[in-house]
Amino acid sequence: MAVARHVAIIMDGNGRWAQERGLPRMAGHAEGRKAMKRIVRASGEIGLEVLSVYAFSSENWARPQAEVDALMALFEQATREELPELQEQNVQARVSGRLHELPPGPRQSLLDMAEQTKHNTGLILNVACNYGGQAEIVDAAQKLARRCADGELKPEEIDRDLFARSLYQPDLPPVDLLIRPGGEMRVSNFLLWEIAYAEIYVTPVLWPDFQREHLEAALAAFEKRERRFGKAPGQT
Ligand code: IPE
Ligand code: IPE
Ligand code: MG
Repeated sequence: MAVARHVAIIMDGNGRWAQERGLPRMAGHAEGRKAMKRIVRASGEIGLEVLSVYAFSSENWARPQAEVDALMALFEQATREELPELQEQNVQARVSGRLHELPPGPRQSLLDMAEQTKHNTGLILNVACNYGGQAEIVDAAQKLARRCADGELKPEEIDRDLFARSLYQPDLPPVDLLIRPGGEMRVSNFLLWEIAYAEIYVTPVLWPDFQREHLEAALAAFEKRERRFGKAPGQT
């Protein structure tokens, strides 16, 4: 029975959760923060190796400025406030995305979180902020092109493994299970390279309502899937 090493979650549905209650969208994001805290704890307890979470996409800048500003303030506050608990849980936090494009407050708090937890040996929590899967691939291509231009590398030496090692988190295993709460049947530019053979699990449960039991249900569904990686059904 295959066990998921790397689970990725598109934390979606905050706005609808708030709207259903006649609350401002930000109330949904605040509740989404609590869901993340719960699921990080549960992931550590379950013994997951890696949890990647989509906090803010490179396309989310298109939202109303007030929502973007409030989200940035939330990221800064949440990363600072949750740091002691991450330490206590031995979580190694990492950040993926174009951090240099974030305002200084959230940028620094995310960097501090990663720096201060880098020696922890428990769950690896990969927080995607100002992250786009296409941007990550472009950034990797630029890195490799620069090495070619410097004469350090020949174009024909670029293969799949070298490309994978040029991504934001070169040492992480590929995503086994991609979970999308909120019911949308799309990937929205999350971890495009890394999900090549991920199993996809979509649930209508909105992210602020997402509980440990929902994570466990997704993991149980994953265990029943037959992963073929291109082979014929039943082939060993
Ligand atoms: C996801 O929830 C959180 C972010 C994108 C930051 P949404 O805000 O997209 O919630 P819905 O999809 O509008 O319900
Ligand atoms: C994806 O959700 C991004 C995050 C959860 C951070 P969106 O709500 O931005 O995705 P779309 O726009 O519905 O595809
Ligand atoms: Mg959404």
